[in-house]
Amino acid sequence: MKITPLSNVMGAEVTGVDLSKPLSASDRDELYQAFLQHLALCVRDQRLEGVGAFLDAARNFGQPKVQHLESYRSDQYPEAGVITSEDRDVKDGKRIIRGTMFHTDESFIAEPPKATVVYAVTIPSKGGNTRYVNLQKAYETLDEATKKQIDGLMAIHYYGKQRPGRKVPSLTDEQLKNTPPVAHPVVRINEETGAKALYVHETMTDYILDMDRSESEALLRRLYDHSAQSPEFQYSHEWRTGDFVIWDDRATLHAATADYAENEKRLLYRTMIKGGPTHQHAAIGRRAA
Ligand SMILES: [Fe+2]
Repeated sequence: MKITPLSNVMGAEVTGVDLSKPLSASDRDELYQAFLQHLALCVRDQRLEGVGAFLDAARNFGQPKVQHLESYRSDQYPEAGVITSEDRDVKDGKRIIRGTMFHTDESFIAEPPKATVVYAVTIPSKGGNTRYVNLQKAYETLDEATKKQIDGLMAIHYYGKQRPGRKVPSLTDEQLKNTPPVAHPVVRINEETGAKALYVHETMTDYILDMDRSESEALLRRLYDHSAQSPEFQYSHEWRTGDFVIWDDRATLHAATADYAENEKRLLYRTMIKGGPTHQHAAIGRRAA
């Protein structure tokens, strides 16, 4: 197995591993440690026959969880979904490229996933990169006064939040009802490494608890701009067919790029790895709901 950094921001490439076969305990451990260290891994040149084989490969990193929203979920495997160039919005039926705003997956639920795993089945000849932000670096580079200010703050994340310019797939009324607001810490501590990361994003974070709304808006705007607008925290992944990519949803943002030709096919399998509570006070999430 060879592990090589993909950039000096985050991410590493892995070669010499075949995820279609069971891994030895030591290989699995080496991969997992590399995932924690680099926040994203791209295992190249995989040949996974179908969604079942993909989920088996993902199990090397934890337990795949059932996707919270049934839209775009696989009928046969509720833990998996497909991302395709044929995706349609559930309400208006229009073609949609999902996830073009920086976000971390399912932060709108009480126990968001630890990681997202994607396998590239078909990739357009050009474009369709996934861009990432390293939120540990974003946190580390904040000035000390801001770190002090945000330490211990909680923010509400809500799928149904209204904000001009926000682009996310529609939810049915039933889905929205089943997705109440939840609270997460603004600074998330990785329970495995102890590393701190900013855990707010413009797509789902609504407001900071126990703070005046305009003050909350101003602080969030500053944190969004600091994290998502700075190229120094970003890595752009150019997909190749056979890439098996896992990223840490506790410490990164990601965004799809809608720049490939409409007549080109793009097909990826996706699952998320089960995560735990983001903080010690789960009751706050219920109070906010
Ligand atoms: Fe996503």
